[in-house]
Amino acid sequence: MNPVIAMPEKSLHYLELEEKYSAHNYHPLPVVLSKGKGVYVWDVEGKRYFDFLSGYSAVNQGHCHPVILEAFLEQARQLTLTSRAFYSDQLGEYTKYITDYFGYDKVLPMNTGAEGVETAIKLCRKWAYKVKGIEEGKAVIIACEGNFHGRTTTIISFSSDPSARKDFGPYTPGFKTIPYDDLEALAAALADKNVAGFLVEPIQGEAGVRVPAEGYLAKAKALCLEAGVLFIADEIQTGLARTGRMLACDHEQVRPDILILGKALSAGMMPVSAVLADDEIMLTIQPGEHGSTYGGNPLACKVAVSALQVLKDEKMTENAALRGEQLRKGLAGLHSKHISLIRGKGLLNAIVIHHPDPEAAWELCLLLKENGLLAKPTHGDKIRFAPPLLITEQEINEAVEIIGKSLEALG
Ligand SMILES: Cc1ncc(COP(=O)(O)O)c(C=O)c1O
Repeated sequence: MNPVIAMPEKSLHYLELEEKYSAHNYHPLPVVLSKGKGVYVWDVEGKRYFDFLSGYSAVNQGHCHPVILEAFLEQARQLTLTSRAFYSDQLGEYTKYITDYFGYDKVLPMNTGAEGVETAIKLCRKWAYKVKGIEEGKAVIIACEGNFHGRTTTIISFSSDPSARKDFGPYTPGFKTIPYDDLEALAAALADKNVAGFLVEPIQGEAGVRVPAEGYLAKAKALCLEAGVLFIADEIQTGLARTGRMLACDHEQVRPDILILGKALSAGMMPVSAVLADDEIMLTIQPGEHGSTYGGNPLACKVAVSALQVLKDEKMTENAALRGEQLRKGLAGLHSKHISLIRGKGLLNAIVIHHPDPEAAWELCLLLKENGLLAKPTHGDKIRFAPPLLITEQEINEAVEIIGKSLEALG
């Protein structure tokens, strides 16, 4: 147990720089990357790895996708930022493209995922006062225990993860948390007339790829509709072909009232997020009431169109569904005593590690790294397996072999 992995000198140099000069707000695996292509990344010594994290599902289209990279470079040479003080020849094209793509009246462009969630919260509150008629300052948004929606002060106010919350108060009021995948709890919470929205991840990614019972999303949406409450889907991690459908909500034919996208909307090239909704909701926000200097910048617009187009052109939804099934079957076929559960949809998967050592998931990730595959534990005993969506049948077989070998070495 506890394999001591010596780091080569070059890697050690970069690791030490980060340790000394970068804030300690992450606990990275000891590998120093300098190149990526498709499903692979390389460390500074030139060793190649399968990337089974994909930047927490930001790199669905694969690293440095040549078509998206070309769009990026072409636009970067032309115009990168106007701010929204002026119009650009890219924003209109992008907003038409993405609203057609997902079937909404309008989009509000932002940058990071957390900003997308903040935007959805503000939109929901504004709608509550302007359309639903809730008394000002009284609107409530329901969120789920085990959620992960980002790191801003408001968002962590309704987190149930102590490490996300502790010592960061006072917290933003106006949120109620209920157990995830619990329709009775939702129905009870919706009885409050001040509820304006229900914010939910169709699959809880950071919680260890928690997939709700079949029918949960459809029934939750129906309950919201009945109560006149907005169904807000955070598809930042689950969306954009990751789960084998364009949106995870598509598995249950659910159309969110507010849809939040991020991460793979730029294929990992830059922070791009988007909030989609129809006019009744979106037009409650007036000029000057919300925005961001970089939100909707021409470079982001051009990259996002290309990133969305590539998902369709390369049939990544279909591939994610097929390869995901192959991956879960392959993992089950290992019959490892160290895997207590395999779960997921498409290429958003996790295993739960069964081992007396509480650090076993971390140790396994170190072994996986030695054997040429990068993955990261989440919430102690879970490891997410979420490679880029262009992974081939042969590559999944190779990855399963690496995982099997590493599980054996775990002892
Ligand atoms: C479901 C979900 N929402 C929101 C976020 C926050 O996105 P960002 O880190 O870009 O702010 C994440 C990031 O992991 C996420 O998985």
